[in-house]
Amino acid sequence: MNALPPLNPETIKFLQAPRRMLIDGAWVNAASGETLDVFNPATEEKIATVPAGGAADIDAAVKAARRAFDDGKWTRMAASERGKLLWKLADLIEANGPRLTEVEVLDNGMALNPAGKLAVPLAAATLRYYAGWPTKITGDVIAPDPRMPGAETLTYTRKEPIGVVGQITPWNYPLGMATMKLAPALAAGCTVVLKPAEQSPLTALILGELVQQAGIPDGVVNIVTGTGEAAGAALTAHPLVDKVAFTGSTEVGRLILKAAAGNLKKVSLELGGKSPFIIMPDADLAKAIPSAVYSSFFLQGQNCMCSSRLFVHKTIFDSVMDGMAKIASGMKIGPGLDPTTNLGPLISSEQLERVQGYVASGRDEGATLVTGGKRLPGKGYFMEPTVFAHANPKMKIVRDEIFGPVTTAQMFDTDDVDAIARLANDTDYGLVGSVWTQNVSVAHKLAARIRAGTVGINHHGPAGNNAPFGGFKQSGWGREFGKEALDLYFETKTVFANL
Ligand code: NAI
Ligand code: MG
Repeated sequence: MNALPPLNPETIKFLQAPRRMLIDGAWVNAASGETLDVFNPATEEKIATVPAGGAADIDAAVKAARRAFDDGKWTRMAASERGKLLWKLADLIEANGPRLTEVEVLDNGMALNPAGKLAVPLAAATLRYYAGWPTKITGDVIAPDPRMPGAETLTYTRKEPIGVVGQITPWNYPLGMATMKLAPALAAGCTVVLKPAEQSPLTALILGELVQQAGIPDGVVNIVTGTGEAAGAALTAHPLVDKVAFTGSTEVGRLILKAAAGNLKKVSLELGGKSPFIIMPDADLAKAIPSAVYSSFFLQGQNCMCSSRLFVHKTIFDSVMDGMAKIASGMKIGPGLDPTTNLGPLISSEQLERVQGYVASGRDEGATLVTGGKRLPGKGYFMEPTVFAHANPKMKIVRDEIFGPVTTAQMFDTDDVDAIARLANDTDYGLVGSVWTQNVSVAHKLAARIRAGTVGINHHGPAGNNAPFGGFKQSGWGREFGKEALDLYFETKTVFANL
């Protein structure tokens, strides 16, 4: 292994300092005094400890958020001021780019490229997008209904912030997840308790420092570290929380719905996917093949958009498999801090075991292993990018979200768009899909027929932070990004005046 470049002094300083969590503008330990260890998945070494927040800490954070909401200093702040503070937070993210990038790489394992060129700049861009919204939030004036009392009436709607929001984020894209949750909630005027994933909580804590530096008032953003079972569950059950926004597993999504039933919290969920990537016989393979590799192995396949179900027309099936195998087997696997790394480690030994279990199941169920499959010897949770051909919809590797560097390919032999859509839609999920073709008519017909929240034509993944993103079917409830994400954080009030 090459010697890794030295860490930024700011990164070293952050890792050496005791890390506390942010409640009501103060950096505190857990009430219990307990801590959780945080590991670098590339080396298996402990890099930090964070407070193991529990029900008492969540209660303190929720009450702080409640006070900050009810006192009106955030909700009734001039819209342009609220926008200015979000923009300032974006500037601070950029100014702290090197530290955020390195801590993200050490904590999550992702390579320098996705961390420094995507996660950090996109976090700033998302805040800037939502910084423009507070000044543009408007209601409607509604025509009078003559059957209602009063000769002259005025009816209008107000978009009011929903209140205190609990936000629970996963480990796979930590800073990006935290900012895509915080930005629309803050733009709408809500106050927040954010619970980052226990596997990779560190960049959320840096974000907390920057929230304070930006001048966002105390209690508006509270960040509680801790496990899902302790801190997460307490947040979703708390009676003073008005809404929960969650990204993670379908299983925990169901638990959150149950916990939210107590005070009928509003809930939005982003629960992953099993996204189809359809390559038609006329597709530009020079673009489709590298994109299939990238979309399957981005963040080691640990992402909700992963193109884990490839559908490839019979006439080009072998060339696509050969092309993918060539690129995938040439990918450099290593620690994210090595600038030449393409593929970092998986997040944990549990995740590596889980994913290796799927590789074994793919072989057992008779799929053809085209490339990859093996974990790497030595320290770190590394494994090869893996492609299975001749998969079918009965196989576990085709049905389950694997959340690792494993993709599956199925062959089809028809030009009928309805038949192709039936194959693509044979899944419980519906987050993302893509179709690769030069034929405009086929492209748009399939875009209309694929049951997913985002469909790419000669593109796979989100359209940008200004376009709605979220799931059909069991991929979730609600849309993040764009104007629609604001609606997750508003209540609509109708005011009727009998003049
Ligand atoms: P998870 O759903 O358990 O964790 C996500 C977040 O939920 C974390 O912050 C966790 O602390 C919290 N959480 C866990 N249990 C909770 C509870 N009872 N109440 C409230 N919050 C709770 O996901 P996990 O176990 O890390 O990964 C398992 C699988 O879930 C992955 O292999 C993948 O298939 C899927 N997943 C999907 C993600 C997506 O982006 N849609 C992200 C992470 C995981
Ligand atoms: Mg879990």
